[in-house]
Amino acid sequence: MVKYSQWLRKGKLDVFDMSDIKVALVGIGNCASALVQGVEYYRDARASDEIIGLDHPDFAGYHVRDIDFVAAVDVVEGKVGADLAEAIFAEPNNVMKFAKIEKTGVKVHRGRELDGVDKNLKALANVSDAKEADVVDVLRDSRADMVICLIPGSAEKATKFYAQAALDAGCAFINGTPISIASDPEWDRKFKDKRIPLVGDDIQDQLGSTVLHRNLMQLLVSRGVKIDESYQLDVGGGAESLDSHYRGRMRKRGVKSSAVGQDVPYDAPIVAGSSDFVPFMDNSRDSYFYIHGRQFGGAPIKIDIRMEVTDGPNAGPILFDAIRGTKLALNRGIGGALESISAYGFKMPPKPTKMYRAERWVEEFLLGKREL
Ligand SMILES: NC(=O)c1ccc[n+]([C@@H]2O[C@H](COP(=O)([O-])OP(=O)(O)OC[C@H]3O[C@@H](n4cnc5c(N)ncnc54)[C@H](O)[C@@H]3O)[C@@H](O)[C@H]2O)c1
Repeated sequence: MVKYSQWLRKGKLDVFDMSDIKVALVGIGNCASALVQGVEYYRDARASDEIIGLDHPDFAGYHVRDIDFVAAVDVVEGKVGADLAEAIFAEPNNVMKFAKIEKTGVKVHRGRELDGVDKNLKALANVSDAKEADVVDVLRDSRADMVICLIPGSAEKATKFYAQAALDAGCAFINGTPISIASDPEWDRKFKDKRIPLVGDDIQDQLGSTVLHRNLMQLLVSRGVKIDESYQLDVGGGAESLDSHYRGRMRKRGVKSSAVGQDVPYDAPIVAGSSDFVPFMDNSRDSYFYIHGRQFGGAPIKIDIRMEVTDGPNAGPILFDAIRGTKLALNRGIGGALESISAYGFKMPPKPTKMYRAERWVEEFLLGKREL
């Protein structure tokens, strides 16, 4: 994909607007922290260099450094009222620090709490008593192109509130949470009617448990192994692991299990989900994979794997690409759910497909050969 984005950058294709990409962040947790740090960390990355952890310094005609955070919203003490540079390291965030962030001049506004902070998260953070901001005004005043929603995965009412706020302010919406927005035909229609792009739902990490599991399944299927059963268990120490263990367990299990099943062309019992919150793990996540199948002559095959990753940074490259793909869609005046970017970077897209096909859709989208 790098090749296509370089063409775009050189202006050989449709480039309408090469100004910065103005992003509003909602939910200044571990994921948002890694994203903000990542822009600094990869500011000077060049496609010709060997870069650790980033395959597309340029994408859709934009470099990572073209991403500009212009507004921020959260609801907890220590983040609300702070400069974004401080809020990304405020407790209970526990993601690794890999970039030094100078003051940004962007103050975190107090958003609407709704179901964002449950009793478990309240044990880690106090809800701010600052006056609630008018989120639509915040978005309009910041001239944000898009909103990225990175609030807890069980916050259904709050996610819908911010999706509506983005619509009202005329901003595109990227939904990192597992709440159905881009995959909901009703929201798709609302964004289409206003010609505003919509992307989601639930980020598929750079190398997270879902993408590794999907690739293992694909490999087994393509090698003629019959998969009999498989499970994948996750434990982590970030606030999101707390949320997905207590509140969002069944939702997360549904999204992850069906995402993994997408690459198996027959019914097989597959269970993938979050299994526990382990506070001393900080923002790391351990995933355990088990697959049982049969190969030539019915001979049994069994796979047991353990993977350890850091959660926040794992979402970084996908969000970078989603932001730049969304900006391209804005430039083209496209509205509604972006099928290509969503299928490529999210676990619950509006149009699920196999991974290799999602990558092809993205290439076609970048080249203007595919509308969504
Ligand atoms: N690799 C990843 O981190 C990854 C992968 C897939 C999906 N996701 C999704 O991304 C989202 C963010 O993950 P995270 O690890 O950064 O979570 P987190 O718990 O670290 O951060 C969530 C933030 O949202 C804030 N918040 C809570 N209610 C709010 C409200 N009503 N308004 C504004 N802010 C509110 C919290 O105070 C916190 O700062 C989750 O929904 C998660 O499921 C993350």
